[in-house]
Amino acid sequence: MLDLRLDNARTLDDPAPHPIGIRDGRITDDVAAAREVIDLGGRLVTPPLVEPHIHLDAVLTVGQPRPNVTGSLFEGIAIWAERVRDLTIEDVKERAAEALRWQLANGVLAVRSHVDVCDPQLKALRALAELREELRGTIELQLVAFPQQGILGFPGGEDLMREAVALGADVVGAIPHYELTREDGVESVRFAFALAAEHGLRVDIHCDETDDEHSRFVEVMAAETIRRGLTGRVTASHTTAMHSYNAAYAYRLIGNIARAGLHMVTNPLDNAVLQGRFDTGPVRRGHTRVKQLQEAGVNVSIGHDSIMDPWYPLGYGDPLQAAFVLAHLGHMSGDAELRRLIDMITVNPAAALGLDDYGLRPGGPADLVVFDAPTPADALRLISPRYLVLRAGAVVARTEPARTTISWAGSARTVDYLRPSTP
Ligand code: FE2
Repeated sequence: MLDLRLDNARTLDDPAPHPIGIRDGRITDDVAAAREVIDLGGRLVTPPLVEPHIHLDAVLTVGQPRPNVTGSLFEGIAIWAERVRDLTIEDVKERAAEALRWQLANGVLAVRSHVDVCDPQLKALRALAELREELRGTIELQLVAFPQQGILGFPGGEDLMREAVALGADVVGAIPHYELTREDGVESVRFAFALAAEHGLRVDIHCDETDDEHSRFVEVMAAETIRRGLTGRVTASHTTAMHSYNAAYAYRLIGNIARAGLHMVTNPLDNAVLQGRFDTGPVRRGHTRVKQLQEAGVNVSIGHDSIMDPWYPLGYGDPLQAAFVLAHLGHMSGDAELRRLIDMITVNPAAALGLDDYGLRPGGPADLVVFDAPTPADALRLISPRYLVLRAGAVVARTEPARTTISWAGSARTVDYLRPSTP
């Protein structure tokens, strides 16, 4: 006897409606009688969404203490420097927990958060470490020691990074393009790799998040990864300068990224509004070279980066919204590319985070997301709500589909935005 059977499910690999059996919190090949049956009516089922890049310590602070009038990165940094003075453990926990509830409602069951450690008291990290323990079994939370103001360029930066690791940071970060000199940037990357290697941790670096084509620290990350044998354990985030590199340099660099096995995370929401601010026209998009990286076999994921903070006033924690934006700004509207965008918010970030018990397969965990749409293209087009989210076979989030009626030729008619031919 199954605990639960989901009937008429479509998956990315098997688009014909079929049943999925669940027993003891795991997916089974068996589709026999079940204690409970839910008819999904042909809806798309995927493994859980994974958020590989967000700043939970800053979420939901938009307008505090003042709004960002220009919307620029630099005004955002100035406002954050004012807001951060009022940070308390309770303040961070309350806002981060609310954002995590939004993410759970959107089907996100694993999150990697960068946490600013340029604070002698490390309040944000202490707060999120508490939340990480409280949410164990609900959402898996990984914390990156992220030196927002630099490691070498911030007083006591190296010691704060060591302290953050001692406090339980899962991942070591850096921000080389923000250091005072090119040489300091290189040294900060080497410091982060050495610290991670010493403690057996992963690396995730804010790298080359600038329009400056001379910002070239991803090459240092690739070299350190190769030298230290850390393939598969290192992520380069943002890398927007890659958009502006000359083709010959980009070709060589992408070859080295593939050789090093770096994971790449692009953040289409924030970088769509923060990059290109010095351009008067044409205005560069400032996204990394997603398609070229993928053609070279590199694992690329989509991050949300911010939810309602001084840098990005919008968002509700839905990776699908970020994927929708990348479909446009990254020219990823081809048929296979629309499906790949779903991979970029599920299996790709799961690999970057090193999640070991993940994936839609017999024997795998019954952690599932049901989109209120039949296909990946429809899910993206409609930025469809998550009809159901299951964790270990139990429903942890449910969204009632919206129902819209119109008056049409004298009678009421329901509109669902699906083609009549879609079964
Ligand atoms: Fe970021």
